[in-house]
Amino acid sequence: MKIIETIAEMKAARLKLKGSVGFVPTMGYLHEGHLSLVRKAGEENKSVVVSIYVNPTQFAPTEDLSKYPRDLNRDLSMLEKEGTDIVFFPSDKEIYPQGYDTWVTVDKLTKPLEGSSRPTHFRGVTTIVNKLFNIVRPDNTYFGQKDAQQALVIKKMAKDLDMNLKVVVCPTVREPDGLAMSSRNVYLTPEQRKGAPVLYKSLMLAKDLFSHGERNAAVILGQMTTLIKKEPLANIDYISIADTETLEELRTIEKSALVSMAIKFGKTRLIDNLILG
Ligand code: PAJ
Repeated sequence: MKIIETIAEMKAARLKLKGSVGFVPTMGYLHEGHLSLVRKAGEENKSVVVSIYVNPTQFAPTEDLSKYPRDLNRDLSMLEKEGTDIVFFPSDKEIYPQGYDTWVTVDKLTKPLEGSSRPTHFRGVTTIVNKLFNIVRPDNTYFGQKDAQQALVIKKMAKDLDMNLKVVVCPTVREPDGLAMSSRNVYLTPEQRKGAPVLYKSLMLAKDLFSHGERNAAVILGQMTTLIKKEPLANIDYISIADTETLEELRTIEKSALVSMAIKFGKTRLIDNLILG
């Protein structure tokens, strides 16, 4: 496994790769969710490139950039075991040199949900992912359904900008009690961790109501809210039932819907989602 820290070396190494290249961008502190993407990339491609970069431009000044968990050695040994060919691990100076001044934005799709709570977040995500795509030039790239809006935004960017790659979205990997795996779960205190499966429980409630014929979004949201409010450590940032493509809020679910939420436990903000129908 090659570990590469500069853009020039990454581009040179890319030129030597024969056959299809699968790419998994990450911010490190890897878990089974990330590894499921790496495995899928391995199944579908000749070579696998994984990036580890905690991208400062997708964090607001009030967010957890400086505290974001990091453990490079552990990440590298996990990736080595998965048979990763190249790990790209650039520095901030390499990615955003002095005078850096170009941004990529997807407009409407980044306004609701995560965008309404984190207005500068997706501009950072689309800019870094665009840069990484230009550096790695993958044939296929792998994103998690865990970050449903991010996956949609990246797909939209790739389509609108005619990028020569396929964006593959992989299912959310969960802990045995249903909590979606996330690097941020380490921030939870033992009590908060005990309450955190309420996100998944509320999604299962939505699924159950939908499968029994409920199509009124307000009714489903109401019951989910009641359930979440029973968990004393949970504070709702948003809960939404939206169109799976445009992310516009739905009153009535016709065929399908994205049920998504952000819930805060103290300062830790957890997100989760499920597609109905
Ligand atoms: P990060 O949070 O490290 O996630 C990297 C990838 O792993 C994303 O595509 C995310 O959706 C996926 N992932 C995270 N938890 C998952 C889970 N439980 N199951 C399945 N997939 C999961 O997302 C980012 O980094 C950044 O925004 C990035 C795209 C790297 C740009 O900086």
